[in-house]
Amino acid sequence: MSWVSRLNNLRRFRSRSEDFLFTAEPPRYVAVIMDGNGRWAAGKRLPAIAGHREGAQALKRSIRACRRAGVKELTVYAFSTENWQRPRAEVEALMDMFTELINKEVPELHEQQVRVRFIGRRAQLSKQIRSRINWAEELTGGNREMRLFIAFNYGGRAEIADAAAAAAGAGFTGDEKEFGKFMYAPEMHDPELLIRTSGEQRISNFLLWQCAYSELYFSDKLWPDFDATDLEAAFEVFNRRSRRFGAR
Ligand code: IPE
Ligand code: IPE
Ligand code: MG
Repeated sequence: MSWVSRLNNLRRFRSRSEDFLFTAEPPRYVAVIMDGNGRWAAGKRLPAIAGHREGAQALKRSIRACRRAGVKELTVYAFSTENWQRPRAEVEALMDMFTELINKEVPELHEQQVRVRFIGRRAQLSKQIRSRINWAEELTGGNREMRLFIAFNYGGRAEIADAAAAAAGAGFTGDEKEFGKFMYAPEMHDPELLIRTSGEQRISNFLLWQCAYSELYFSDKLWPDFDATDLEAAFEVFNRRSRRFGAR
């Protein structure tokens, strides 16, 4: 059996948790490091790209769940500036998958009134992906239900370096709030909650500027297995945290 049909068989048995009812009050601004696709695939003797494909399903579920729960901004880490170091076949398969996903899923996101915006260095991306990104941002630009930021060829250090370069040319005077305006998406709020799946407990160059005071939540679930109930568990933990921002 090909890995594609094995993956489809697996999917048939997954709980969708589509109708899950949220009882926890959600944070407004949530960011996610979607990690563990490779290990999910390896555990099932599937190629890494099968894990990424299942990860895309998990992303669809999480977007819907966040929207239903009332999250206003969701920022997801899809591809880092360091991920180019992976085997060429994996990178190429990922790029093809992203192009396909944008084409297929953005119209549905548009129907759900989700505004899609990409953050990251675009110049390194193929012309084809760049054109799909522009198309997605233009199509969904007026939507108000939820904002989805997709970090793609994104690095926190690259973002700060790019912001510094832009600021240097714009007479920047050293004010923190003003510096934030040079970030890739200046309209994005600092995440209140940052979730990372797969048991790894690190930032991996994600939103270094914006996560200064984010609450961190680590889940042992691999990203393709992460569902609405896991999201709710993260919200519950977040609601019990005491956020002080350095004050008493
Ligand atoms: C995250 O899953 C997705 C990307 C980095 C594109 P990984 O592919 O990093 O999964 P693991 O960490 O190898 O399990
Ligand atoms: C971070 O995960 C990047 C994405 C989830 C897109 P990685 O798997 O690349 O991070 P490390 O290598 O474990 O730090
Ligand atoms: Mg990883």
